[in-house]
This record gives sequence, structure tokens and C-alpha cells, in this order.
Amino acid sequence: MVQCQFNGAAASEEELRTLREQLLALDPSKAEKEGGKESQVQLRSIFLQDYRDVSNKAPYDCPTELLWGEKHIYETLLDLRFRVSVDSFFQVNTSAAEVLYRLIAEWAAPDPETTVFDICCGTGTIGLTMAKTAKEIVGIEMVPSAIEDATFNAQLNGITNARFILGKAEDVLEKTLAGFSGRCVGIVDPPRAGLHVNTTRAIRKCLPLKRLVYVSCRQGAFLDNISELCRSPSKTLSGAPFRPVRAMAVDMFPHTDHVELVVLFERD
Ligand SMILES: C[S@@+](CC[C@H](N)C(=O)[O-])C[C@H]1O[C@@H](n2cnc3c(N)ncnc32)[C@H](O)[C@@H]1O
Repeated sequence: MVQCQFNGAAASEEELRTLREQLLALDPSKAEKEGGKESQVQLRSIFLQDYRDVSNKAPYDCPTELLWGEKHIYETLLDLRFRVSVDSFFQVNTSAAEVLYRLIAEWAAPDPETTVFDICCGTGTIGLTMAKTAKEIVGIEMVPSAIEDATFNAQLNGITNARFILGKAEDVLEKTLAGFSGRCVGIVDPPRAGLHVNTTRAIRKCLPLKRLVYVSCRQGAFLDNISELCRSPSKTLSGAPFRPVRAMAVDMFPHTDHVELVVLFERD
């Protein structure tokens, strides 16, 4: 699945027409009909997105046009099938993602009495790979198509103890955790900006939540969150502080400077 993002404001009509024709010509079914060579790359679909701003990622509600091919792709991960939409996050290095998710499950260690709060859950991967051993999975995610994928993926894999909540964690987590009294574990896998302070506040405030697995793709933002999770209680930060217990880096992107850092936090 390829999404081509361009800035339509900077292109002429002629350039846009040429771009579309070139991308349409990559459709393998069309190339076959016209006697073209089969591509080495298994292209399933091409999406076009006209984005006229400057950040490197368009907001998830920026319209995307399916130029040709299938609307979703499917991936197998830890023996589960996952549907992925173009706007949904999905780890690109599947075998390394399996290492990452196994590690998260080992440290989260849910049992049949444990509810897993999978915060920033994308297509539901982390929670769904633990569903068999947990009481319930509650995923929270702000991108609507990712929530649709997560709900679909639970059904696709016959998982009935998972539910997914659409919303920004900083807006919905406190209400989701309010009044929760069972055994639970939290997993946070935020984007590069890290967690909003309202999210770390809600986690601290939820007293039954004594174990938290933090997955960080950018360690700068993570440092701010560590101090919010671990400093002494104050007027704005209620609940006992967490302490980091174990940490491990997973090399999701070999030959780059980037790692996924997994840290287990606990508190009494
Ligand atoms: C690094 S991805 C992880 C996704 C998923 N855990 C996985 O492993 O595939 C971060 C996810 O957080 C979502 N996200 C970003 N900001 C969020 C927020 N404020 N509240 C909830 N989800 C958010 C993104 O849409 C994305 O799906």
C-alpha cells in the first residue's frame, strides 16, 4: 500500500494529470492487460493525498483518494491477522514488531483477572496479541479508521473480550479509568510527541493501575513523561509515583539511530 502525498498548490494541471497517469500505469492488472512486465514489488494499492501544509504528516482527516487497488492491506503478526487502512498506524518491520510485542506482553504479564488498557492502540495490535491471557482489553486511539480496524481485527480473530474507544487519550482516559476497581495494567505507545500531561495525570490518578509498560519511539519526549510519572505527588499530580524497573531497546529500524525503548514502571 503506497500513499503518495503531494502539494497540489505547487503543481500545474498538466503536472497533476501526468502524475495520475504515471501512478495509474503502476496498476499491475492494467500493466498485464497491456503486456507490461510484472513488477517485482507487490503493489496492492496507491492512494493520492493533496496536502497543502508544511508538516511532514498530514492530519488524519486530510482526504485521501484511492487511485487503484484494495482499500485495506492485511498482515499476519503473532498468529493473528490484522487489517490496516491507509490512515492507520502499523509497524512496518513485522518480525521486529513481533519481538517488541512479545516483550511488552511478558512485562505487562496479564492474567485472566487483568484488564489491559492499551493506550494509543492503533489497529489494536498490542492488546489483541494479549487478549487470550487477559480478562479484557480496552484500547484507546484517536484516529477513526484505526479504531474501525481494531474493532474489525478483534472480530476477524474471534476475540470477544476487547473493546475500543475513539478519542484523544488526554480527553477520554480519565473518564475511562474513573471508578475502575479491578486488577489492571496500562500500556502506552504514544507518537513521537509523547503523552499529553492529562494522560499521565489520569494514569497516576487511577490507583489500581500499578504496572505500566511505556513504549517510546522518541526518547526526548519520553523524558518529560518520566518526570510526570515518577515525581512526588503535588496539587496537579495526585496518586503515588511510579518507578522505572526495567528497560530494553528493540531495534525496529536497523542501521538507523532509532530504537523503540520499552520501560516497565511499577508503584505500590
Ligand atoms: C506509535 S503508534 C502505536 C500504535 C499501536 N500501539 C501499534 O503498535 O501499532 C501511536 C498511535 O497513537 C495514536 N495517537 C496519537 N496521538 C494520540 C492521542 N492523543 N490519543 C490517542 N491516540 C493517539 C496514533 O494515531 C497512533 O495510532
